[in-house]
Amino acid sequence: MKLPDDDAFYVYDPNRFLGDFYDFSNAFSGFSECVLALSVKTNTLAGLLRDGRNAGGWAEVVSEAEYRYVRALGWEPAQIIVNGPAKTEMLLAVAHGERALVQIDGFHEVEWLASRTDGVFRCGVRCQVDLDGETTSRFGFSIADGSAHSLIRALQALGNVSIESIHVHVCTSRRSAADYAAVVRQATSFIGSLSLPQLRFLNIGGGFLSAAPAEFRSQFPFQWTSFKEYATAVRRAWPDERLGLVVEPGLAVMARCLSFFAKVVAVKHVSGRQMIVCAGSCYNIKPSKSVRNFPLVRHPCGRPQVPMESADVVGLTCMEDDILHRGYSGSIAVGDYLEFQQVGAYSLSLKPAFIEPTPPVYRYSESRELTQVMPQQSWQHMMRYEDR
Ligand SMILES: Cc1ncc(COP(=O)(O)O)c(C=O)c1O
Repeated sequence: MKLPDDDAFYVYDPNRFLGDFYDFSNAFSGFSECVLALSVKTNTLAGLLRDGRNAGGWAEVVSEAEYRYVRALGWEPAQIIVNGPAKTEMLLAVAHGERALVQIDGFHEVEWLASRTDGVFRCGVRCQVDLDGETTSRFGFSIADGSAHSLIRALQALGNVSIESIHVHVCTSRRSAADYAAVVRQATSFIGSLSLPQLRFLNIGGGFLSAAPAEFRSQFPFQWTSFKEYATAVRRAWPDERLGLVVEPGLAVMARCLSFFAKVVAVKHVSGRQMIVCAGSCYNIKPSKSVRNFPLVRHPCGRPQVPMESADVVGLTCMEDDILHRGYSGSIAVGDYLEFQQVGAYSLSLKPAFIEPTPPVYRYSESRELTQVMPQQSWQHMMRYEDR
């Protein structure tokens, strides 16, 4: 593969994305209806989202910007799920106006619905469950303290709401299949205590692990869970075969399809520390600054190499902790490219406008050629500069 000339760039692999998308949805087959709604905030790349839509995915959005974006990408309102704790009047007006499925996370949304007399609105209710050892989520309404019940009573009293889904999103510290079984059981008992004639879905949100390689898994303090193990646990706890399932995976299906390439700019040995300085930043691959290493591949440029032992791969910013990879041992040459693999989740979408614009994005063709699908961000766009 011939690499582009850019000092830093991303490469999107559609085959890898679709492979993970289908593996995930096939694992969850066997439900009367199973909807996979892609978490748009996890990776906003238009080509990826279009691939997901063409594969039958719905879109899960949390803002007016995301809503308008997925409409522009071709999603019909009926296949858009609207979450988010602070939906604006405009988002409510547009999404409800087009009859998207809006999952309620605040009483201000009930007030908005109460003020409307123009038809029936499709709603879900975001609920919280109690899970052992986990802190209480700030999203949704508690099943245990009765606030979810009160919300549903308030909605039913309006007379213009069709409650189509009960939604619980968790992202637990162990990401285990047992957590999802507990979610399903608690949501099921809640549903059983209500009369919800229009209920179509139990939506169990996102928070699932990806099919990461062993070298990545070994950096986590818990046992890994596969798509099949999640699906089996959910299926076993499932209450009623007529009830449809919605999943909202982000990381699980989007992490593995994106690589970040950065050119090696300098090699330093200072005060006993070995460093490889590259033309990227931790913000390009892990804006959370996690200390975990992504799988790393070196693309040699052919120049003379130097041996490195336990080196830090450091970034172009002024932050001391701008470290993209820890403990690199092997050869390196200035001019080589380092490929940080499996960085598709919350990288492009969370990169701050800090020091350098976002690099261009390329896409693999069927013959593994690279085509640019998103240009390098301009400094004007990054700095929001206007000549006036
Ligand atoms: C409601 C909801 N659904 C889905 C997701 C996607 O989560 P993940 O990327 O962990 O799968 C999130 C992430 O915050 C979320 O808040």
